Amino acid sequence: MADLEAVARALVAPGKGILAADESGGTIEKRFDAIGVESTEDTRRAYRELLFTTEGAAEHISGVILFDETIRQRSSEGTPFPEVLERQGIIPGIKVDRGAKALALAPGEKVTEGLDGLRERFAEYVELGAKFAKWRAVIPIGDGIPSEYCLWVSAHALARYAALAQEAGLVPIVEPEVLMDGDHSIERAYHVTARMQHAVFTELHDQRVALEGMLLKPNMVLSGYEARERAGVEEVARATVKCLRHNVPAAVPGIVFLSGGQSDEDATAHLKAMNALGPQPWELSFSYGRALQAPAQKAWQGDPANVPAAQAAYLKRARLNGAARSAGYRAVDETR
Ligand code: 13P
Repeated sequence: MADLEAVARALVAPGKGILAADESGGTIEKRFDAIGVESTEDTRRAYRELLFTTEGAAEHISGVILFDETIRQRSSEGTPFPEVLERQGIIPGIKVDRGAKALALAPGEKVTEGLDGLRERFAEYVELGAKFAKWRAVIPIGDGIPSEYCLWVSAHALARYAALAQEAGLVPIVEPEVLMDGDHSIERAYHVTARMQHAVFTELHDQRVALEGMLLKPNMVLSGYEARERAGVEEVARATVKCLRHNVPAAVPGIVFLSGGQSDEDATAHLKAMNALGPQPWELSFSYGRALQAPAQKAWQGDPANVPAAQAAYLKRARLNGAARSAGYRAVDETR
């Protein structure tokens, strides 16, 4: 347990956050389509190498979440990716869920699969160098959904995963993502997020998960992306922190937000505004996928000549989000 807590605390060390580079095959293909790059094992490897070898990233990035394919790949010099990261002081982690599938008898709702055989898979990931893990539950908001049925089965699965992760000696990142697609209000987002966080911590407690040795990866509480009137940065920050204060025990070392399709600048501004609200029981940090990588992908375009520009774009977002952990970030920094 002492080791789990030390890893969890290192992942939310001051000024640093997590890079989520664990896009599954389908998701990375979507990202590559947008920049006109064919998704092959080698283009995926080259792209991840660009991120993992960015000089200076370790100043702002504490850990990287890898996908099953990536944790087995090597740099062009032949070093396994987990070792490439470890050598810089970046902690390697692994996404272990197998994606959200339709939930039986619940039209429009989802449940995440991947529990069968997970103990054995954890043993292999430990051998491959993983120190922490991630599992994502997906909760869409819509007409009459989510149901309590969906929230509780998703929370139950998250806790089963988290218990298995701790048994294997890995820090579980528990990710209940309430999606912000739709035209719902921030009040509705608050209500659903609060219900889900309540269910998650009830299940974690019942399934004996040590809260000191885990991290929560929640959505921020936002208005739906298609809502007519969308809440501003301050309101989002206040609603998100209030929701966490009501539902997340102080024993949890840190909250590492997902970016969930927000613009890069919004994801950074929200994080900064939350940290500006004053000390909280837990660290407030990031575990961004898109909000750290989008500018890098645009700059890269699959061309090796663009690697330095792509690395500079990634480093800039890492630096700004690291600064948003404290009072260091200013909007003017966006233009530098
Ligand atoms: P986004 O920051 O792009 O939402 O990705 C984070 C993540 O890991 C989702 O599972």
